[in-house]
Amino acid sequence: MRKIVIAGNWKMNMTPAQTKKFITELAPMVAGLDKCDIVLCVPFVDIATAIEAAAGTNIKIGAENVHFAESGAYTGEISAAMLSEIGTEYVIVGHSERRQYFGETDTTVNLRTKAALAAGLKVILCLGEVKEERLAGITDEVVAMQTKLDLAGISVEELKNVIIAYEPVWAIGTGLTATPEQADETCGVIRKTIASLYGDEAAEAITIQYGGSMNDQNAAELLSKVNVDGGLIGGASLKTDKFTAIVKAANA
Ligand code: 13P
Repeated sequence: MRKIVIAGNWKMNMTPAQTKKFITELAPMVAGLDKCDIVLCVPFVDIATAIEAAAGTNIKIGAENVHFAESGAYTGEISAAMLSEIGTEYVIVGHSERRQYFGETDTTVNLRTKAALAAGLKVILCLGEVKEERLAGITDEVVAMQTKLDLAGISVEELKNVIIAYEPVWAIGTGLTATPEQADETCGVIRKTIASLYGDEAAEAITIQYGGSMNDQNAAELLSKVNVDGGLIGGASLKTDKFTAIVKAANA
């Protein structure tokens, strides 16, 4: 049985005060819904507040990015040790918005993943094809290549702390969702790639989420697919009722 993980990615939303209010409201709504892990990945300045507000609940807290160096002259960046010292449990790495707007490549995604794992963080590693790649029929090749490059040099033991989030870039924030069949198929390609790198047991065990306009309306169908082990949710994670509905769909 694979672990189902429903994670919110707040992106650049919510102040610390809004964070406290949100988690205080959400906690009783998702209490006891323990068939999935519940994670909120929040802006750096919200993390401490989020951890405090989520203490004693079933909500876990993550960051949205991490730098690969231990320390040094990297103005504006945050290290894995900084995150882990304040109790951060998860971190998103390689989100398509980081790749698109901030010049992240598979090489830097790989380095960030390694740094996060070395500091004891659990990584939500994002990958997925852009629209032109889907239309050109090369989605499978693209996600296989990203999987290989992003995980290069990561051991099978370290892989236990990695979740893959398959996020087709054309489905992010667009209201367009991959069909459940597309999500299942491409998550399956990623799983096969993991099998080729790490063996069948690791491939069967790894959690692979779908992300891209997942919401309270489409979550149940997406989550019903055998290769879809949860969701990484943007817009719908900013509303307690919508996010709770997705968590409930994962607990059905
Ligand atoms: P939306 O759910 O807003 O499409 O965002 C998905 C996403 O990017 C999660 O990381």
